[in-house]
Amino acid sequence: MSNKPIGFFDSGVGGTSIWKEVNLLLPNENTIYLADSKNAPYGEKSKETILSYSIKNTEFLLEKGCKLIVVACNTATTNTISKLRSMYDVPFIGIEPAIKPAALQSKNNVVGILATKGTLSSELFAKTSEKFASEITIIEQVGEGLVELIESGQLNSPKTKELLEIYIKPMLELKTDYIVLGCTHYPYLIPQIKKIVGNGVSIIDSGEAVAKQTKAILLKNDLLNLSAKKSNHQFYTNTNTEVLKTILGIVPENTTIEFADF
Ligand code: DGL
Repeated sequence: MSNKPIGFFDSGVGGTSIWKEVNLLLPNENTIYLADSKNAPYGEKSKETILSYSIKNTEFLLEKGCKLIVVACNTATTNTISKLRSMYDVPFIGIEPAIKPAALQSKNNVVGILATKGTLSSELFAKTSEKFASEITIIEQVGEGLVELIESGQLNSPKTKELLEIYIKPMLELKTDYIVLGCTHYPYLIPQIKKIVGNGVSIIDSGEAVAKQTKAILLKNDLLNLSAKKSNHQFYTNTNTEVLKTILGIVPENTTIEFADF
């Protein structure tokens, strides 16, 4: 058992969608979340640059004593997780677009994937698509500009709506019945996406699966926090704290949201 925190990092505020799922399943766990918003978006950067950011974030979290790290970013996971696992001893949990469940459940055999350029061009994504979706039609769409809009708090702006329509309407024309959100920022756009797709299309992401996997790995390594003390949660951003506060909404007791220069 361990009362050390679980660490999370993302290129910004998006990974809080994963943090929320983990906190829901494991409310007893202490957590530290890093929003590397200064360097967002990762999705347009080179693999080497994404790796250097991922190392910097990991080392910050390890210095704070984290027992496990959730890479709450599809772009960082698909480009760097095997390297991170080879460099450090703590367990890493990553997030990848939920291609498998979408491919299994799609009735029309047409699945749309909205993700960053970095995720869609990664080897890991190519392998996962080949393994689980070689029999169906996959429509890959880069969500260019969406991370920047979310990072500036524009979840509902006309520009956000316009970009979503440009990205999603062609998927509907091709009879997509499953849309996979392959970027942890995008779950914050689900209400807007639903307005575009209506009822016949399912929207899925990997947040719940990541939470379950986190629990399984903590159990396996005897790292669950069994203490009766209330958990505490530290959020750090290297830009201003306002958007992070708004995106998080209501937070548990014992939560701090601060600027840090990392
Ligand atoms: N939340 C990150 C992801 O899941 C966003 C990537 C980016 O910063 O471009 O991919």
